[in-house]
Amino acid sequence: MGELIRFENVGKIYKTGDIIYEALHDVCLTINEGEMVVILGPSGAGKSTLLNMLGGLDAATSGKIIFGEKEVTALNDRELGKFRSEDVGIIFQFYNLIPTLTAMENVGLMKELGIDIMDPLEALSLVGLEDRKNNFPSQMSGGQQQRVSIARAIAKKPRLLLCDEPTGALDTNTGKEVLNLLQAQSRVHNRTVVMVTHNSLFAEIADKVIYVKNGTVTDIVTNENPKDAEEIVW
Ligand SMILES: Nc1ncnc2c1ncn2[C@@H]1O[C@H](COP(=O)(O)OP(=O)(O)O)[C@@H](O)[C@H]1O
Ligand SMILES: [Mg+2]
Repeated sequence: MGELIRFENVGKIYKTGDIIYEALHDVCLTINEGEMVVILGPSGAGKSTLLNMLGGLDAATSGKIIFGEKEVTALNDRELGKFRSEDVGIIFQFYNLIPTLTAMENVGLMKELGIDIMDPLEALSLVGLEDRKNNFPSQMSGGQQQRVSIARAIAKKPRLLLCDEPTGALDTNTGKEVLNLLQAQSRVHNRTVVMVTHNSLFAEIADKVIYVKNGTVTDIVTNENPKDAEEIVW
């Protein structure tokens, strides 16, 4: 597995008026192609901030971020926008689907924005929802809505799939289906998947676990034999 992402002494400071808050301090890490990575830490630790840095959604205040051949921290706004739209797919806790669009329209939306994606129906079939293509979000369960959001994220075949608490609003069984799909993205499709969670059980399904606390990476652990998503219980 080749290296996809490298952080060298990355820091992030938020300024709100006179208040300065250091959300990330001196983060060093590497993530490989096809790896399933879990970022684990308590609420307020800096996990979402770290995820935003990984996907170029927000700029680091210090340090260097390398993605493949690109130095993300050296890109201008236009190049950064291109990087985000081509290389990064994102899945949120509350799905972020557009309520007035059907499942298929939600998945196909990026084509309207000029981004090259696979056939939306093919993307829906990858998450087992082709028969729901004409349903609106309100006509689907939380688990189904999250699967639509996964279809939307993978439709552009991103090199990096970022997930921020993707099962946070789901019960165990539907959450597990979502974890299964994400793990398959890494194992079957060799896509790099990075998932933020505060649920320490999810560490067991990861190839690599990055522990975050008070804005610092406290430990990075590699699992030789990660569990199947089906095997964990919470
Ligand atoms: N845009 C922002 N402006 C100011 N402070 C922020 C901003 N985003 C996050 N923070 C602060 O940074 C810290 C880490 O936040 P976050 O990365 O969201 O943590 P987590 O995802 O682990 O719960 C928190 O204390 C939060 O209040
Ligand atoms: Mg968060």
